[in-house]
Parts: sequence; C-alpha cells; structure tokens
Amino acid sequence: MHSPFARVLLTSLTCILTLGPQAFAFNHHRLDSRAMINPTLQDSYDFVIVGGGLAGLVLASRLTEDSSTTVLVLEAGGTGEDVANTINHPGLAYYAGILGNPEHDWQWTSVPQPNAKNRVMNWPGRLLGGSSSANGLYIVRPSSVEVDAWQSLISGLDGADNWTSEKFFAAMDKSETFTPPSAEIQATGNIQYAARSRGSSGPLHVSYPGYLPEIVGKWTNTLSNIGIPVNSDPAGGNAGGAYVTTSAINPTNWTRSYSKTAYIDPYYRPNLHILTDSQVTRVIFSGTKATAVEYGQDRKTVNVGKEAIICGGPVGSPATLMRSGVGPKDVLDAAGVPVVVELPGVGQHLQDHLASQIIFGTNDETAGSVHANADDPRSTSDVFLSYVNSAIAYASSSELVGDVESYKNDILSQLDAGLASVPSTDSTVLAGYKAVYEVAANKLITSSSGQVELLLALTGTSAGSQTISVQAALQRPFSHGRLYINSSNPFDPPVIDPNYLAHPSDLVVLREGLKLARSIGMTEPMNASVTTEISPGANVTTDEQWNEFILNDFHTEYHPSCSCSMLPKDQGGVVDAHLKVYGLDNVRVIDSSVFPIEWAAHMMAPTYGLAEQAADMIKAQYSSTGSGSSSSPSPSSSSSSRPSAAHPSAVPTSISLIISSLFLPLILAHLFL
Ligand SMILES: Cc1cc2nc3c(=O)[nH]c(=O)nc-3n(C[C@H](O)[C@H](O)[C@H](O)COP(=O)(O)OP(=O)(O)OC[C@H]3O[C@@H](n4cnc5c(N)ncnc54)[C@H](O)[C@@H]3O)c2cc1C
Ligand SMILES: *[C@@H]1O[C@H](CO)[C@@H](O)[C@H](O)[C@H]1NC(C)=O
Ligand SMILES: *[C@@H]1O[C@H](CO)[C@@H](O)[C@H](O)[C@H]1NC(C)=O
Ligand SMILES: *[C@@H]1O[C@H](CO)[C@@H](O)[C@H](O)[C@H]1NC(C)=O
Ligand SMILES: *[C@@H]1O[C@H](CO)[C@@H](O)[C@H](O)[C@H]1NC(C)=O
Ligand SMILES: *[C@@H]1O[C@H](CO)[C@@H](O)[C@H](O)[C@H]1NC(C)=O
Repeated sequence: MHSPFARVLLTSLTCILTLGPQAFAFNHHRLDSRAMINPTLQDSYDFVIVGGGLAGLVLASRLTEDSSTTVLVLEAGGTGEDVANTINHPGLAYYAGILGNPEHDWQWTSVPQPNAKNRVMNWPGRLLGGSSSANGLYIVRPSSVEVDAWQSLISGLDGADNWTSEKFFAAMDKSETFTPPSAEIQATGNIQYAARSRGSSGPLHVSYPGYLPEIVGKWTNTLSNIGIPVNSDPAGGNAGGAYVTTSAINPTNWTRSYSKTAYIDPYYRPNLHILTDSQVTRVIFSGTKATAVEYGQDRKTVNVGKEAIICGGPVGSPATLMRSGVGPKDVLDAAGVPVVVELPGVGQHLQDHLASQIIFGTNDETAGSVHANADDPRSTSDVFLSYVNSAIAYASSSELVGDVESYKNDILSQLDAGLASVPSTDSTVLAGYKAVYEVAANKLITSSSGQVELLLALTGTSAGSQTISVQAALQRPFSHGRLYINSSNPFDPPVIDPNYLAHPSDLVVLREGLKLARSIGMTEPMNASVTTEISPGANVTTDEQWNEFILNDFHTEYHPSCSCSMLPKDQGGVVDAHLKVYGLDNVRVIDSSVFPIEWAAHMMAPTYGLAEQAADMIKAQYSSTGSGSSSSPSPSSSSSSRPSAAHPSAVPTSISLIISSLFLPLILAHLFL
C-alpha cells in the first residue's frame, strides 16, 4: 500500500499523461502590472528573498509592513492559480493533489537508500506558498522541552535568548487565528483543546474540518486504553499524548489557509514584489557581501540593498548556498563551483520522519467510502472536502519501550556507531552530530515528547472497500543524512541522501511504533469498527518479519529539516542565532532547514513561528538607532542602502491602506477565476 501522498502523486502523473502539457500551461503572465505578483521589477530591493514558500512569504509580508522597506521574492514555482481549486479544498490533497506536476513539484528524489532496500523517496513542493500549498494541512506544535533542547545547543551564541520556548510559543501564537470546532464536530471527534494556548489574531487560520467520520470519536479513548493519555491542551507546551489536532483550515468557507492566502493575498503592498517561475541560480558576492541575486534560465540579476534572505526550504536553501560558493570545500571543488566561504555544515545534519502503517478493514463509514460513492451528495460538498486526517498521538519512550533509563543508556552506548554512519569526515560536522545526539538522548527521549507519532488515516480504500489505517512515524531519527551538488549547473537537481535507517535504533523505534499501531485496532472502542487486518497481516509477528515489512513499506512523512542547522560553527552550524550564515556579511537562512533537531511534531507550526520571530529580529535590527548598534554585526552598507526611513511617516501607510482596499477585490477576483 502507498501513503495517501504517494497515491496523490500517481493520480497527478496520470493526469499529466492524459491531459498533456497544455493542461498545465502558465496563465499568470496576464496579471496586472500594478499587482504585487509578477510586476516590472526595480533594479534593487532592500531584501531579496530566495523562495516564496511557507517561511519566505511570512518574511515578505512582515518586512513590508514598514512601507519604506522594499522586498522582492523570487520563487521557482508558479502562482498556483491554475490549480487553485485543488489547493483550496483541503481534502483534495488526498484525492487529487498537485504533486508530480513539474510546474508545482521539483520532482526531487533521494538517491537509493542502502539501508532500506535501495528504495528512493520523492521530495516535492515547488509553488508560491511552497509546501504549505500542497501538503497535508496538519498544524501540530512541538513540546517546549524540544525548544529548550534547541536552545541548549546554541546557548553559547549571541542572540540565543531569542529562541526561548516562551518567545517561540508566542511567535507561533502570533502566526494564527484559532477557531474552535463546532459543537457537533467536537462531539463527533471527542475533541479537546485549550483556546488559551492558541493565537487569536494571526494571519493563518487554524481550525478543524467540517466533516469527521464517527470512527474519529473512538480515537482518544482507544489510545488511553493502550496507555497513551488524552492530551486536552496539545498546543500549550506538551505535545505528547492523544488528541484530534488542528489543521490549516479557514472555517468560514472550508478552504486551505496557507502562507499565500494568509500573509499575501489580503494585502496590497507597493513595496513588495513577487516574481514566480524564477529559480535563483546563485547569490553574487563582493568579498563576503551579497550584492546581487541571479535568477532564471537567462541569468538576470537584481541588486541587494541590505540582505539576501534564503528561504528555499531544506533542499533549496543548502543547494542555493552551495551553488553560490558557500559550503563544504570538497563538494564545491568536485562540482566546479569557486569557493566564496568554506562552510562544511551546509547540507549536513539532514533529518526526516519515516512512517509505515497497519491497514484494517471496516464496514463503518470513512472519508474514503464517502469519496468513493459518487451517488453520495456529500462527496463533492465543500464541507466534506474539508476533511483532514486529524486524529494523532505522540508516544513517549516510556509508552513505547517501558524502561526509559535503559533505552537512554542503550542509545548513548551506540554513539560511536552513529558517528560512523555520518556521511562526512569533517570534524565540525561530527561534533555537531554528537551534540545533537546527546541532547536527544539526555533531554528528549527521557521526556514526555514523542518518539513515535501515531496517525489515524480514513481516506484510503483497499480492493474497493473502506479501510482504517493507523500509521506510525519515527520522530527522533539518529540517522543523519546530507545533500550536496555534483555539478555547476544550477538547474541540475541536488543529490539528496537522507541516509535513512543508517542508525540501527531508528528501525527498532519504527517497529515498536507499528506494534502499537496494530494494538490500536485490537483495543476498545476502536476494535468494534475493525473487521480484519489487511496489511501486513496477522502472520507478521517476529521482529524479522516486521523489519522486512517496514523496509518495503515505509515512506517519508515529508518533514526534511536541519540541513542549514543553527549550531555553533565548530559543530557544523550554518547559521548563528541571528540566522546569519557564518562568514557572510548579509545573508540569512530562514526556513525549516535551520532547526538543529527534528521536531516531534509537524513542520508548519514551528516554521511559521520561526519566520515570525525572525521578522521581528530583523525589524529590530534595522530600526535600532544607527546601523552598527545592533548586537549582531550589521551588514556593511553604503549610505544609499542605509535604512533611510527607520521611522516611516504615517502618510505612506495610510495611502497604502487606501490603495489596498481598492485593489483587494481585484486581487481576490483574479485568484479564483
Ligand atoms: C506532501 C507534503 C505533505 C506535508 N504535510 C505536512 C503537514 O500536514 N503538516 C505540516 O506541518 N507539514 C507538512 N509538510 C511539511 C511542510 O509543508 C514543510 O516543512 C514546510 O512547508 C517547510 O517550509 P519552508 O518555508 O522551509 O519550505 P517550503 O514551504 O518548501 O518553501 C520553499 C520554497 O522555496 C522555493 N525554492 C527552492 N529553491 C529555490 C530557488 N533556487 N529559487 C527560487 N525558489 C526556490 C521552493 O519552490 C518552495 O516554494 C508536508 C510537506 C509535503 C511536501
Ligand atoms: C475564503 O474566505 C476568505 C475570508 O476568510 C477569503 O479571503 C477567501 O477568498 C475565501 N476563499 C474562497 C476560495 O472563496
Ligand atoms: C549526480 O548524482 C546523481 C545522483 O547520484 C547522478 O544521477 C548524476 O549523474 C550525477 N551527476 C554528475 C554530473 O555526476
Ligand atoms: C474488543 O476488545 C475487548 C477487550 O479485549 C473485547 O472484550 C471485545 O469483545 C472486543 N470487541 C470486538 C468487537 O472484537
Ligand atoms: C503473510 O500472508 C500473506 C498473504 O497470504 C503473504 O503474502 C505474506 O508473504 C505472508 N507474510 C509472511 C511474513 O509470512
Ligand atoms: C532578542 O533578544 C534580545 C536580548 O537578548 C532582546 O532584546 C530582543 O528583544 C529579542 N528580540 C526578539 C524579537 O525577541
């Protein structure tokens, strides 16, 4: 069986083959030149943002709140207008999807994975909004103990104070507006939440679907019966336990809320330009100062006034740095790219979540059964198409293996094997692996944060019948991979080697997680909905049989991270606590690649929080009196690029508001043609 997203990929590929390339012709070039998207460009912008994904659009929106700051976003993918309907309906992520379409998907694949039967994984996501426009919509926050662990890794760095869990949770609050479920949905799903732990006035809509099958309501009680407690406040700092989580859904019309609709569409900002279908090929330096960004097949350039901000995601950001001459010297030499700054950690520390699943048969209604029944009038309704698999749980070490102390000691005793599996011989990268490993062993596997995520998936079918799938996903991988470039052609794909299952503990954890997943189907009240175990089947019982099944079945949870880690430079770090790339004057990386540890959560909530906090830090730096007074080295700037209007007058702001109210209807009308 495939994951929902693997099926989406197949469906999309079938569409391409059936409809031909015409069906995907670009259609945004007729956009009004006064619009923010695809206008005539200026020669120079204060900030040039590489990648209009989740983080890139948050930054673009927040930095242009100051009307005197100019920002250009360069995004490789399209606007998504041609697939707006698919993006907008949350449930279509399962049933239609846009992955596999080269206009919206990089079609990156990993290299064959030697510890996983040489299988390859697809890593998608190329579109305005990035993966937030195409993904599974889960909004799940990490635990504060994980933020504390991150902070302990950078405690010696200037600016580490900006990443306390208090500030990080406040930043996640700032990004969202939470709407509770309707009374009916709350009762159906047996949903618990604590509104006090959520944001109430941020751009991103966070809520629950408008439709849930009855089976969802059995989840938390079943989990509690296997010893995983119900969590009634999962967003408040402890994300462990069982709950029905939030999704990035706008409950006023059951649409997907993502970085473009949340942070860009509601505004018209004359000081913000966004160019799509424009892949950045490199950043151009004078010494260690970024002066311009080069993009497109014809290698146009645009000048950088203050900073280049790389928001290309965990693949695009390290690849862009390496193509610009910033990265491991051996990689750059072999690829034929001149070295600007040698930085061994670029592309290293790469981590991901891996999932496998148990599939049960059921006679109960599922989202998959409603969808498959074209005669059911609900199947095409907006309410039904807001369905997202939201029942999840995070099992801690004690819930997974019982004896936490011996599990911890076991992990610590395997450090040398772990170090031997790191795809680098650089001493700083190895030191970073050791630091992350020891923090995970000493602070995280001993905590109530998750080692394994369990997810209830009700969108599938098997041989035409509805199914209940319980997925288990490894959250805290001790296998770290890398990605690199192997040619100087920026349009060649980067080489992605996640090094899956290189550390022996990762397969053990995934296997124990799957045993929990199976037990969920056999436990009250869920067992009343289960008819049989379809996959792997009751004959898979020994650890060898489980391993064989998992190696053939597992897939990525699409949560790559850590490839431009915020760590000390002598631990293979790429950015400091101000998100500035080591050795460069005015380049930051701000996206999901900078987290040094993989979250036991989904990636969007922490990435929105990161981008919000980063925007505040950048604004604070440039509004402080005198460009050199900030605690971090300010980019060396000529007088012309100095923050000329640190105190913007109120006049431009109100004009921009008036303009914005005039153009908003136009922009909205345009989007949903
Ligand atoms: C199929 C799928 C399902 C997922 N499900 C969930 C989920 O349910 N919940 C959740 O929280 N997370 C989920 N994720 C993960 C989440 O979407 C990502 O972690 C998150 O979007 C990362 O944000 P980002 O800003 O780091 O990168 P992205 O959102 O990926 O944005 C990076 C952007 O940069 C662009 N780019 C890259 N290189 C260049 C270049 N050289 N020039 C110009 N542009 C460039 C890319 O095209 C992309 O638009 C999923 C991801 C996928 C792919
Ligand atoms: C959904 O509602 C929001 C307002 O909350 C609006 O901006 C958006 O255009 C609507 N989406 C669609 C597809 O109608
Ligand atoms: C780069 O690596 C990929 C994946 O291993 C390979 O297919 C490709 O041929 C390599 N390119 C070069 C120029 O070596
Ligand atoms: C569910 O499990 C309980 C406890 O083991 C058992 O008593 C009950 O008969 C089971 N129900 C079904 C329908 O299998
Ligand atoms: C279990 O049974 C199925 C169906 O008969 C078979 O395909 C599979 O190979 C068996 N697995 C094992 C481990 O025996
Ligand atoms: C960053 O930390 C410094 C002190 O360490 C503080 O003054 C500043 O307000 C923080 N910035 C943000 C955005 O939290």
